Amino acid sequence: MKALVLAGGSGTRLRPITYTSAKQLVPLANKPILFFGLESIAAAGIREVGIIVGDTHADIESAVGDGSRFGLDVTYLRQDEPRGLAHAVLIARDFLAGDPFVMYLGDNLVVGGIDRFVRAFEESSSDALVLVTKVANPEQFGVAELDPDGRVVRLVEKPADPASDLALVGVYIFDSAVHEAVRAIRPSARGELEITEAIQWLVDAGRSVSTEVLTTPWIDTGKLQDLLEANRIVLDRLETGPVTAVEGTVDSESHVSGPVVLEAGATLLRSTVRGPVVVGAGTRIEDSFVGPYTSIGAGCTVRDSSVEHAVLMDGAEIDGVERLCDSLVGRGASVRRAHERPPALRLHIGDHSEVRLG
Ligand code: TTP
Repeated sequence: MKALVLAGGSGTRLRPITYTSAKQLVPLANKPILFFGLESIAAAGIREVGIIVGDTHADIESAVGDGSRFGLDVTYLRQDEPRGLAHAVLIARDFLAGDPFVMYLGDNLVVGGIDRFVRAFEESSSDALVLVTKVANPEQFGVAELDPDGRVVRLVEKPADPASDLALVGVYIFDSAVHEAVRAIRPSARGELEITEAIQWLVDAGRSVSTEVLTTPWIDTGKLQDLLEANRIVLDRLETGPVTAVEGTVDSESHVSGPVVLEAGATLLRSTVRGPVVVGAGTRIEDSFVGPYTSIGAGCTVRDSSVEHAVLMDGAEIDGVERLCDSLVGRGASVRRAHERPPALRLHIGDHSEVRLG
């Protein structure tokens, strides 16, 4: 069994962050989203992993390297344009060499790992296995219609009138039959080779496509609100539990209530941090309140501010902000009160940025 991890794409829904960095490297509790998937793949006993990369290949390659730190042997496969999930399978053909493989979307968080699903596929005689999960709003997802044995009959993208409440999760397992399918299908209306169409092709060709239902949380982090929710889920599972892991410095006027991870060299001065929170190495928090579900990267400054339910990436600066919440702040970005007269909003923000004033 091999794995094919998709870490290309254009990430338009996460602009402006994705203008300068790969969305798969946006951190959840200070760890890139992609790493959670790679760890799950390693935990399922898979070693050989192909990673599909696009324009952001240099960032992905420098973050993941040869994969040895995850116990993986990684090969990078360059996709010239985001031509669709099934196109990724098409260009990975030589790497996959006819072996069964797990296809994993690099911006998806699947809590609880994939080991069980890999074993289920190995024990089955199916040509493909798709992971599904019950959702309250199936009309916003790719939806699977199943026969009484749990085999896929039909897949429909964002159906107006859903036949089931089972949404496709970004993890699929295929045997070599999928190669014929991805060659047979044509680009969709949005110009992509769709994996749902390749799977439908398998069903129509009489191949057996089974399903497994995921009961642990799954988040496709493609949009800001989903990313913040994924950060919340990961922070809720901080391994420190109720214990506070403090490697940094906390002065006598600060209060920390766990679970809080304070990485090496982080400093708290006259501040309150109420977990679950992670604070990256070398970050300085002064005269501030940091509330639950906040991840603060390395080398950040938070001064005279209150921050909650947010992700601050490395080097961000928050100064004099009364209440910052539900936010993603990019690397080296700053939000500061200017104390100038007359008070005014002075912005220097990138294309497709969003500022919401309370
Ligand atoms: P999507 O989130 O479906 O697509 P996208 O990255 O282009 O984002 P947006 O819709 O916001 O523009 O992609 C799911 C995952 O698969 C993500 O990790 C990117 C990756 N991907 C590829 O590697 N190649 C592709 O051709 C596509 C479409 C996605």
